[in-house]
Amino acid sequence: MAGLALTGRKALVTGGARGLGAGAAQALTAAGAQVMIADVLKDAGEHKRMFEVNLLGALLGTKHAFRAMRPGGADGHCGTVVNISSVAATIAFPAIAGYSATKSAVDRLTRVAAMESGKLGYGVRVNCIYPGLVPTEMGVKLAVETAGVGLFENTDAAVAAVVGLTPSGRLAEVSDIADAVVFLASDKARFINGIGLPVDGGMGM
Ligand SMILES: NC(=O)c1ccc[n+]([C@@H]2O[C@H](COP(=O)([O-])OP(=O)(O)OC[C@H]3O[C@@H](n4cnc5c(N)ncnc54)[C@H](O)[C@@H]3O)[C@@H](O)[C@H]2O)c1
Repeated sequence: MAGLALTGRKALVTGGARGLGAGAAQALTAAGAQVMIADVLKDAGEHKRMFEVNLLGALLGTKHAFRAMRPGGADGHCGTVVNISSVAATIAFPAIAGYSATKSAVDRLTRVAAMESGKLGYGVRVNCIYPGLVPTEMGVKLAVETAGVGLFENTDAAVAAVVGLTPSGRLAEVSDIADAVVFLASDKARFINGIGLPVDGGMGM
């Protein structure tokens, strides 16, 4: 994206082997950053150790990003953390209560971490994104499970309900989220800190 140069920056993308993480890694690379991907084997990643992966993973990722980016750290000249929450943290969509709870926790973690970083003089910005439903493997699985509990006739009906709640009238695409990651990582977002950015076509209004 023009004007969002990340040349000379380093980025670590967790869950970067596929889905939103892979899209973010590609977009960060295209913006000039050196990108490292951290992922787990597909099978291991899919056991939905949901609380550990969604919440503890974000917590530990933020903690170790602080350690690396704070003054005196291994890469101690500030930096930024972009956590991935979800539109599920901003609305009450049925059948995904546990998932929504973990993503609400990521939202709160982000805001408190930004405050702690500021108070401790770390200079690390911390923001999160609320993606709408993206038809990645996880997004499709969420739709299937939502239909599976009987609240919708089938998966197509569950997806149609999401689209119906979305003013932009479509599902999200990986690139929609990736572009937002690049923006928040760039100096264009230098005074944006401690927020959750909806990238959901308006679903979470
Ligand atoms: N797809 C959606 O509709 C959607 C919507 C809102 C938020 N999100 C969030 O976006 C993020 C990415 O979702 P996605 O749709 O790309 O999922 P995905 O399942 O397509 O990809 C997730 C990737 O993360 C990896 N992974 C799993 N556990 C890991 C761990 N402990 N450490 C490192 N990597 C791990 C997996 O191996 C996989 O490559 C998730 O946090 C998800 O909750 C997704």
